Formats: sequence, structure tokens, C-alpha cells
Amino acid sequence: MAAVAEEDVAGTAFPSAASKVILLSPNIFSHLLLIFATSSCLVMGLAGAMLPLYVFSSKNQTDFGMGGEETQLSFFGTLLLGQVIPGKYGFLAQLNEGRHLKKRPTEFRVDKVLQPFDGSKFNFTKVGQEEVLFMFEEGDGGQNQYFESAPVETSQRPHGMVAINVSPIEYGHVVLIPRTLDCLPQRIDCESLLLALHMADEAASPYFRLGYNSLGAFATINHLHFQAYYLGMPLAVEKAQTRRIMALSNGVNVFQLLEYPVRGLVFEGLSTLEDLSIVVSDACIFLQENNIPYNILISDSGKRVFLFPQCYAEKQALGEVSQELLDTQVNPAVWEISGHMVLKRKKDYEEASEEDACRLLAEVSLSAERFQEVEEYILNAILGNTAGEAIDTAAPASEEQGDEEEDVRSKQHHGPMLGPEKQEFLVLQ
Ligand SMILES: *[C@@H]1O[C@H](CO)[C@@H](O)[C@H](O)[C@H]1NC(C)=O
Repeated sequence: MAAVAEEDVAGTAFPSAASKVILLSPNIFSHLLLIFATSSCLVMGLAGAMLPLYVFSSKNQTDFGMGGEETQLSFFGTLLLGQVIPGKYGFLAQLNEGRHLKKRPTEFRVDKVLQPFDGSKFNFTKVGQEEVLFMFEEGDGGQNQYFESAPVETSQRPHGMVAINVSPIEYGHVVLIPRTLDCLPQRIDCESLLLALHMADEAASPYFRLGYNSLGAFATINHLHFQAYYLGMPLAVEKAQTRRIMALSNGVNVFQLLEYPVRGLVFEGLSTLEDLSIVVSDACIFLQENNIPYNILISDSGKRVFLFPQCYAEKQALGEVSQELLDTQVNPAVWEISGHMVLKRKKDYEEASEEDACRLLAEVSLSAERFQEVEEYILNAILGNTAGEAIDTAAPASEEQGDEEEDVRSKQHHGPMLGPEKQEFLVLQ
């Protein structure tokens, strides 16, 4: 299959897009304020260099404000990072031309979600020090601390490394590599997911999200990593309606997405990041052990996690994806699924429509029947791994719309009071 994901650049030659880190304060997250020096000409000096030139026409005062020719508009259109696609979802389209031309070959099977780490393939211990921004580690005190310089070593505490994505799709596009030197394969475990939640929490901005692609769901590097970036607007999926299907005693609620082109679950933690991490990682572990590819979006400063089992690569392998979709070269990974469409062809960007976005995402989503089946397994996996007892294990109702969520919420509020020791769970139908 075609192999392009946002992180696919990590293995490509780096130097031309040199990056510079501006430290504004001892706050560790100021590191994320990056200025990407856009090209090597700044280093080489401009005199004697060849550069593209845009010549604007001279015009008199009366023409002012009348707008330019179509060619001018489309030229400047390409300078914009993106546009909102008109429609009810508010998808964003972004043109990232040529990305697929630089793609690295996928170095592992795409039909297996769990594969052992392979030392002969690219791994993040190889990245240059100029790509690494900082190490990120849980401390033992109550205060955040920042050290200008600390040895790179394997710590006993949850830790990882934050490196720039050498071909960013957005502001501050980075990767978080948990326990980098341990060379873990791309698979979710509770501690690593928790580290990612902590990063979202520390960034403390609703516009800073982390994402995860499993193998088979468009990860291209089998070395455990999350991606993250700033995008100053809500993503379509964050605005989608949800319906609560389970409330756990540890304060985590599980929701089903409603009326969104990709079926998915949403987990919200009301108390601690640990509780949320335990529940979400139980779900992920179930999926990966059952070879179901998936994507995760961490939003709302680590308090909300979206989980999307997906089947695009499988359909692709079975020849069930239309040539038209394949021709776009778009690999629907976490950002596309969440509503940030990174398009490879100018034509697709210029003609981007909600219909097209939905057509792509519909191929990503499990069918209603399959999703319901997987969802039941996930809910059982969560219940099976957490102490307690389900008081009602009825299968979640099929997708409904409108004021259903209100009904569900009020049912919850007026439902029986639960003794915490005896009845840990409330499964809402
Ligand atoms: C990671 O990649 C480097 C460079 O290719 C290699 O030397 C090293 O052995 C790899 N690490 C592991 C654990 O395989």
C-alpha cells in the first residue's frame, strides 16, 4: 500500500529545513514555540540565489479593492495553510503538496497491528540532536522543574523525548517518543499513554492535541510515538454530538460519537489522568491484541480521548477502495479522521468539499454492525480489567440522534444511587 503518514518524514534526510528553538521562559513548553527557518537560502545568503518571483500588476486607484484575477487568487491561496470546508462538520483542508513524493517505503507489514521492534528499520534513537527539543519526565515533587541540561538516560520514572517533526503539517508539530532508548514497538500501554496525557495536560491548551496511529492505521514507523501540534480551532470531531454509553466508578465516562462519518468512542476523565489512561489503554490493548487497527486523538488538555477502530488499509488491500480515492494519495490517519484533511494534490484542495471528505472517511469507518460488535468487546474488556461489577451489561443501543443524549444524561442523573463498593459500573443503554 501507499505509505505516507505525518511522521513518515522522520527517516528522510533532514538538514535543509533547519529548525530553531526560541526559549522564552523557563517553562518547558515554551520549547514548543518553534520558528522553522523556511529554507537553506537564509543560511547560504540570498545574493546569487535563484528564487520564485511573483510579479503583481501595477493598477490605478479605481481598481483598488476589485480583487485580482483568478490566477492571483489561487497563487495566494496556496500560501495559506488551510481552509475551512463549507458544510455542517467544519472540516479543515490543508494542502501539503509533494509530501507523498518524499515518502519512505513502509518497512513492515500493514496487516498486523502488533509487530516486534526491528533494529534494522528506522528508529528514533537515530534522530539528530538538533531535532530533539527536550526530555519529558515525571518528577517526584509537586513542582514543575526545568533543567537546561540533563543526561539522556533510561529513568525509572515515566519519561520520553520530544522531537520536532521534520516536515510539520502545523505549528509546533512534534513527536513524543516514550522511553526512547528502550525502543518499544508501536503499541499502546497504560504508562506510555499516560505520558501522552500528561503532555497534553502540561501544554494546557485546547488547541494542542496529540494523536496516535497504530500499525495498519497509517503509522509508518514501528517505534512507539505520538504526534502533536497546535491548531487554533476546534476539530470537527471535537464538535460532534456524543451519547454516553457507560459511566465508570473511577469517574471515566464512555461515549459513542453520533452523526460523524467515522464511528468511534470518546472517553472523558473526570478525576485523574491515570484513571483515564487505564480505561483507554484497556480498550487499545484489546484492539491491538485482536489485530484491529485504530487511531487515537487526545484533546481537551488530556481530559478527552477519541478512539477510532478503522479498516481503510484492509479495504485497500482487498481492492475495495475506489481508484478515485486512491488517486488522492490521502492516507486517513488520526488527523484526517479528526477533521484536518491533509491533501496531497492541489486540485483536491481547491475543490475540497464536505462530500469528498465524508466519502473518504466513510471508507475508514467500521460498518455499523462491525462497530457495534467491536464496541461490545471493548466495553467488556474495560469491565473485565477493572475491579467491580456491571449492573447492566446490555449492549449499547444503536446510533440515534437528536435529543437522545439529553435522555441518556437525565436517565443517569435520576438513576439509582450506587454504593461504590458493591456496584462499580453503570452501563447506560
Ligand atoms: C536503532 O537504529 C540504530 C541506527 O540504525 C541501530 O544502530 C540500533 O541498533 C537500533 N536500535 C535497536 C534497539 O535495534
